[in-house]
Amino acid sequence: MTSAEIRQSFLDFFRGKDHRIVDSAPVVPHDDPTLLFTNAGMNQFKDVFLGTGTREYTRAADTQKCIRVSGKHNDLEEVGRDTYHHTFFEMLGNWSFGDYYKREAITWAWELLTEVWKLPKDRLHATVFREDDEAFELWTALTDIDPSHVHRFDEKDNFWEMGDTGPCGPCSEIHIDLTENGDGGALVNADSPEVMEIWNLVFIQYNRDEHGTLHDLPRTHVDTGMGFERICAVLQGKKSNYDTDVFMPVIRRIAEVTEQKYEGEQTQVAMRVIADHVRMLTFSIADGAMPGPEGRGYVLRRILRRAARFGRNLGMRDPFLWRIVETLGKTMGDVFPEIVDNRGVIEKVIRAEEESFNATLDRGLEIFEEIVARTKADDQKRIAGEDVFRLYDTFGFPLDLTNLLAEERGLTIDSTRFDELLQEQKERSRAVTKRSSAFAGTEEPTEIPLELLLDAEESRFVGYDVLDTECRVIGRWHDHNLLYLLLDRTPFYVEAGGQVSDTGYLRWQDRDAEITGLLKLDGKTVHVVQTENGFLPELGETVHAVVTGRARRDTMRNHTATHLLHAALRRVLGGHVQQAGSLVEPERLRFDFSHFEKVRPEQLEEIEALVNEKILEGIPVEQHRDVPFEDAKTMGALMFFGDKYGDRVNVLQIGEFSMEFCGGTHVRNTAEIDLFKILSEGSVASGTRRIEAVTGRGVRRYIFQLHDELAEQEHRQEELQERIKQLEKELSRASLEQGAGEIDSVITSAEAWNDSRIAVARMDVSDAEQLKALGDTLREKLKSGIGLLAAVIDSKVLLVCVVTDDLVKNGVKAGALVGPLAKRLGGGGGGRPHMATAGAKDTEGLDALLAEAPALIREIAEG
Ligand code: ALA
Repeated sequence: MTSAEIRQSFLDFFRGKDHRIVDSAPVVPHDDPTLLFTNAGMNQFKDVFLGTGTREYTRAADTQKCIRVSGKHNDLEEVGRDTYHHTFFEMLGNWSFGDYYKREAITWAWELLTEVWKLPKDRLHATVFREDDEAFELWTALTDIDPSHVHRFDEKDNFWEMGDTGPCGPCSEIHIDLTENGDGGALVNADSPEVMEIWNLVFIQYNRDEHGTLHDLPRTHVDTGMGFERICAVLQGKKSNYDTDVFMPVIRRIAEVTEQKYEGEQTQVAMRVIADHVRMLTFSIADGAMPGPEGRGYVLRRILRRAARFGRNLGMRDPFLWRIVETLGKTMGDVFPEIVDNRGVIEKVIRAEEESFNATLDRGLEIFEEIVARTKADDQKRIAGEDVFRLYDTFGFPLDLTNLLAEERGLTIDSTRFDELLQEQKERSRAVTKRSSAFAGTEEPTEIPLELLLDAEESRFVGYDVLDTECRVIGRWHDHNLLYLLLDRTPFYVEAGGQVSDTGYLRWQDRDAEITGLLKLDGKTVHVVQTENGFLPELGETVHAVVTGRARRDTMRNHTATHLLHAALRRVLGGHVQQAGSLVEPERLRFDFSHFEKVRPEQLEEIEALVNEKILEGIPVEQHRDVPFEDAKTMGALMFFGDKYGDRVNVLQIGEFSMEFCGGTHVRNTAEIDLFKILSEGSVASGTRRIEAVTGRGVRRYIFQLHDELAEQEHRQEELQERIKQLEKELSRASLEQGAGEIDSVITSAEAWNDSRIAVARMDVSDAEQLKALGDTLREKLKSGIGLLAAVIDSKVLLVCVVTDDLVKNGVKAGALVGPLAKRLGGGGGGRPHMATAGAKDTEGLDALLAEAPALIREIAEG
């Protein structure tokens, strides 16, 4: 049977038992913040088991895309070294929601395995939970399994839980014995590839809460899971999952791309790691995950780096993992079309991440060499935890990578010290986050009267609706010249979710005190003011709290615009875009988001236009406050892993365009935003982009600033033009003066002709006017005579001929002289008797003509 046939026969079998065949849920569980990745088929039915949701059917079956990379259900470092664990795999499953229970689950599992798929019965073993006598008896009563093949195990092996919390219960597993003689009973649950679990039947009857306590569920359910790749290997008679038709095309592609054969232990491990990891990356990116610095993104990054590093073992220095995505599309695209539809994005993301890792890796490997040299020089066999940590923290070397490199050099690593350092770092960053959120916007008070804080009544944030209000002092402490006040209600927003704290003042008995800081302690807003002018209201007294409206309204415009921007980005760039951080101030907004390349100018224009369109549509902005989390999920609010959601949440809805969790403050209608302008787009980290933008007053400020700049530029331009004109004038005056000087020498070297003179010269001028002006000067200075001045202007010959009045009276005409001269150079011209001009093209012949000119002039004048 091919893998496709195996998958299909599983689904057909359960369809025949009245099961609804459903789609796989995405591998990225956008609606369950307790989970990093979908890790079991039952995840999508969690609400049904808990009794908080229902389906229109009570029996279901599917093939579910799963990822198990860490924690409860997998050990990443083992993947690829053995032949039957994966980070990404398909889980075939069937479910009963309060319908059938152990009896049917066991009967049908046995029927499918032994009658449909005809697995040898004597090679199958069943395990049950230590206390589950019922399951034990059902196995022997309902099936013809060898009774000595039914084993009892304790919680570790036979009590299944999806995570730290959630639905769970005792389970019964089916294992297959692949040993040569079929006597591997002792190897059940011994982590042996020869005796492997193939199917897990879980009898869900409890929910574990966050304190670890088990609660009975109102009804009992069945949840089963069978590793698809394993059952394929078993049914196709392969020793390794990687030898089945699920993996072979991928392995072949890797062999082709790396130009290596799938041979030899080291090469095989590397190719298996790569095959497994590319599958994981492809499916998770297709469902909206992106490599990044934390949370789920960091898992993707680690997986990619592990694969890239094994690629180096195959001699691959350039990005190549992305080239394998195509093959997955070909082999699995029928069942999971999302990997074909998103192929372009998947390839780009992987390639970009590979490129950035390669650079880091090269630098890290250099450092590693230094560390090895130092370790060996010190006669040590173990690399210090500090060094391992540095490689991890600065160069992104996963622990197993450093370990691997060390092994290759005959060294070990101090992973205990590494763990300590990692722990310290985590605590440091936890402390920093705690502090920064608690003391946003002010100095830390020297001492916080904790009891006072904890005992104080709840204070209510009324700043969604009003910006000034009367409030009662319900807690206070005084520290030097600072007064810390708790109020029964407050219009002041304290920095959260990227939105900065409000500014404003408190008024008490005609005294005003500016708010110098706002803190959130134990969920309560603490107002900090100076006591300089005697501002010291007592407990129970009333103060008037006033938020600076103008700044707050600007902030609200920016905050609502941030939501529009987020939705527009997801529409224009794709569903992979996720908010990675934001800053919302009165003056501007900043939005960081996951995206793998520069946003192109035309995309940016489209995004900006879409946001402005939504502003012009004047969409009412609805704030659903204090909604139960489950309801918010049903409403379809956008949520992301890593965000903390309480039991009750606020959801911000902008018509059909956007729906997000948000506790910030917003305008009531998009029209209030006025106008939206993107100022810049750039990169903040690999895979994370940043947009800065302005709205309302910010856009006006931007326009006026642009206008001022333009006016300033225009002004400068006018000044420059003026200056140019002036310089030109100066220049021509200067060259005239210089020319006049030259005229004297022209006259000196003039030839005598009767009582007159003939003066001929080539001048260096830049325009005709200048040459004519020189002609005038020459005419004046000659007193009696004929002058011919020539120049090359704009690659053309210009001739100016002048004749003094006495000669004009005698009938000599400048026009009659200049024409024939110009003709010799292929041109012509004419003019008045005392001055005429002519133009010609032959600049090369000019000097020769000038040499002959006096004789020619004489000839013509004497006629
Ligand atoms: N949810 C069970 C498992 O993942 C079937 O093993």
